[in-house]
Amino acid sequence: MEKIKYLVILTITLLTVDGYALSREATEGKTLYPSCHVCHNPEMEKPLAPPMWGVQRRYKKNSLDKNDFVNSMAAFVKEPTLEKAIHDEALGQLGLMPALPMPDDMLKKIATYIFEENFLPPCTHWKIAVKNATSRGDVEHAAKDQRMLKRFCS
Ligand code: HEC
Repeated sequence: MEKIKYLVILTITLLTVDGYALSREATEGKTLYPSCHVCHNPEMEKPLAPPMWGVQRRYKKNSLDKNDFVNSMAAFVKEPTLEKAIHDEALGQLGLMPALPMPDDMLKKIATYIFEENFLPPCTHWKIAVKNATSRGDVEHAAKDQRMLKRFCS
């Protein structure tokens, strides 16, 4: 009995220290997330998609609650359109994302995972972006990504 009490307290402490634990839905979504990471990997020299850290931030700002976040993200991924897209910067640089017509329940699980995950700020992505923008003479973008680096990575 003492042992169980100890384990319960330990688990609660670890969850509190860690700050979050994924729901069952999100844990399942995490196993499907590699299908997004192939493009949304924030460490690529030539990015194929924006880092999920920023996508999550934008969707959180633009949605009313978790349900709205999950539904609008799932709807976008199933059938991306310019009207649904909110990541103007990525759209301008990379063009519209190709449709990934997976079953709705899978898309919702992935979106739930993206809502719950604490993604690390994409510091490598910003470093590469500063280098690339500087070499094409794009002072404005270089300065913007430099600000992100200073704010989230130092
Ligand atoms: C083939 C590459 C590729 C794959 C695979 C991919 N994406 Fe994307 N994604 C992109 C690109 C490019 C953009 C930026 C353009 C845009 O916003 O449409 C993007 C943007 C997004 C956005 C922001 C859309 C907006 O509002 O502008 C979301 C949300 C998103 N992806 C979710 C996902 C999810 C979830 C998965 C996995 C199920 C996934 N993506 C897989 C290329 C990809």
